[in-house]
Amino acid sequence: MRTIGVLTSGGDAPGMNAAIRAVVRTAKYEGLNVYGIRRGYEGLIDGDMYEMDVSSVADILQRGGTILNTARSDRFMTEEGQKQAVSMLRTFGIDGLIVIGGDGSMRGAKEISDMGVPVMVLPGTIDNDMAYTDRTIGFDTAVNTVLAAISNIRDTSSAHNRNTVIEVMGRHCGDLAMYSGLAGGADFTLVPEVPADISALCKKVIQGRNRGKRHSIIIKSEGVEIPTDELVKQIEEMTGMTTKSVILGYIQRGGSPTAEDRILAGRLAYKAVHLLKEESASKAIGIVSGGIVAVDLADAIATERTADTSYLELTNVFAI
Ligand code: F6P
Repeated sequence: MRTIGVLTSGGDAPGMNAAIRAVVRTAKYEGLNVYGIRRGYEGLIDGDMYEMDVSSVADILQRGGTILNTARSDRFMTEEGQKQAVSMLRTFGIDGLIVIGGDGSMRGAKEISDMGVPVMVLPGTIDNDMAYTDRTIGFDTAVNTVLAAISNIRDTSSAHNRNTVIEVMGRHCGDLAMYSGLAGGADFTLVPEVPADISALCKKVIQGRNRGKRHSIIIKSEGVEIPTDELVKQIEEMTGMTTKSVILGYIQRGGSPTAEDRILAGRLAYKAVHLLKEESASKAIGIVSGGIVAVDLADAIATERTADTSYLELTNVFAI
């Protein structure tokens, strides 16, 4: 293995730049050439790439987003697009690829690997929804961003004696909601993995009001079936209290990565480059119980997620 490529794909996540930097620096340390591929699989199909050196990744460790840009590529979903992508890798003499992205990006990586090019996947998404790894790069930063928002919203919510529903991202995974709900002292958290019990939620709000609490914070994951507006209406009807909502949206994807995300990105990238160089293997790199693991792509894709809903129980107890 002499030359590797690196790309970021799907939704950006804080720490992707830290991962790119670690890939490039490890590769250069190991005497490899590295191509940075712009706009994910979309850029790969177009051959939109450039050779990177040690200084290409200077001063990016602390930056959110991704210097390589990212995309969700429809063209890559077709057989023709995938063949074109592999042919571009061969044209540029790239013997192995590192893909930083979420679930969809990992499926794309498997297609390339099946066509004979070794691919390493680094889990990069704020959703923490990749079952083979305990953590994805960007999740910890997103939790902290949500916490900062909860803090601000709590001030105004309390000043006006009203409830606020805060909708967070996470797609079908409730981790972002559960972690930020617990750490942010929410009164109730709704996640897609557990059927929404609006009566229990309102009971909690009323219970709080009866003991003199002036407001409640409710965290709702975007994947929960009931629309946020409808939820607000039902809470107002059942509790008689003014209730507002905030959809946090893309602020959750930006910002400087936390120490945890930077370190995770570095550890995963280091392992990926070494495995690519030494074994020309295709693996999904992750972290399980604090240790770095390398899982076959097919197994990583097939692993089913089970949500740890004990976080909800704790949130409930602490909001007595
Ligand atoms: O996967 C990351 C994520 O931010 C999800 O939490 C969210 O549902 C989705 O991406 C939004 O995607 P887009 O950038 O395409 O709007």
